[in-house]
Amino acid sequence: VLLEQEGKRIATGVDPRGAKVAVLGAAGGIGQPLSLLLKLNPHIDRLSLYDIVNTPGVAADISHINTNSVVTGHKGPEQLGEALRDAQVIVIPAGVPRKPGMTRDDLFNTNAGIVKNLAEAAAKHAPKAHMLIIANPVNSTVPIVAEVFKKAGVFDPKRLFGVTTLDVVRASTFVGQTKSTNPENINVHVIGGHSGVTIMPLLSQTGTKFTQEEIEKLTHRIQFGGDEVVKAKDGTGSATLSMAQAGARFTDSLLRALSGEKGIVEPTYVKSHIAEKDGVEYFSTNVELGTNGVSKIHDIGPMSDYEKKLYEAAVPELRNNIKKGVEFVNKA
Ligand code: NAI
Repeated sequence: VLLEQEGKRIATGVDPRGAKVAVLGAAGGIGQPLSLLLKLNPHIDRLSLYDIVNTPGVAADISHINTNSVVTGHKGPEQLGEALRDAQVIVIPAGVPRKPGMTRDDLFNTNAGIVKNLAEAAAKHAPKAHMLIIANPVNSTVPIVAEVFKKAGVFDPKRLFGVTTLDVVRASTFVGQTKSTNPENINVHVIGGHSGVTIMPLLSQTGTKFTQEEIEKLTHRIQFGGDEVVKAKDGTGSATLSMAQAGARFTDSLLRALSGEKGIVEPTYVKSHIAEKDGVEYFSTNVELGTNGVSKIHDIGPMSDYEKKLYEAAVPELRNNIKKGVEFVNKA
């Protein structure tokens, strides 16, 4: 049976043993709760946990949960290839988080190198995997992964995603608080990128009426919501638990779409034609997910005058962030 399955896998490119998801940075503040939530996901058959520290312990612990998936732990660069091999989805929360007073761009010097190395290994060992990038600054780390994959000749823009789901999750929560309604029923189209002014919640599209004061307060809170957590954690890190939930939600949406479920739409930061006219190559809007990853990139839709101003402010920052990532990989 195994031989028959192996033959089928080679013939069809589909692994009958089911979806393998690899988490890189699995022992971290996001990595651990994210891995826990993924262990509960029925679409995952194999969960591969990689980090440079502590993964044997995290994997042993999570593996005792009685869901029908197999967990493996891999520690250190010599075990990275094995962690990645055959992965259908690779989620990357590896890298340092912010401390009070830092912007996400301040993390570039450390995280760019980490993401580049991990992307090089992924391009070699799992070139067809869907890459879900959580490591900040997302606006730059996504172009870094793209450039590494281009150099290796394996880039497919349909399979690369910057995970901006936390902005969407926060937007629902903050709007729900403002309007005293259940945040689970609120869906905000958050477009652009994942840092400060590049995060643009299109509140005018929610169908809810806001005063101008509410719009300005909510927009600022959604753009800088991460700072609230960084400040409250007082030097020990940034959002990890809410991020784990957001990362698990996006991974679940993608896996369901990959297995054929229709109509799954999530905002995510991808290579996009939407803002190309303004020189912005990567942009987040609602994206319909399908069996090959990105299936349809939705338009921005109608924007209020206030939102058009947000767009004008975001464009130069996004352009710079993207350029920085592209140049990092292509520098001599
Ligand atoms: P953390 O420091 O708690 O964990 C990071 C983990 O990455 C550590 O276990 C570390 O050993 C590991 N790591 C470092 N270098 C590695 C390498 N070369 N290979 C594999 N693993 C490596 O940090 P935390 O809080 O989990 O945050 C991780 C990243 O996620 C940060 O860059 C943070 O800014 C970002 N983040 C992104 C969000 C988003 O919305 N996209 C939201 C919150 C955080």
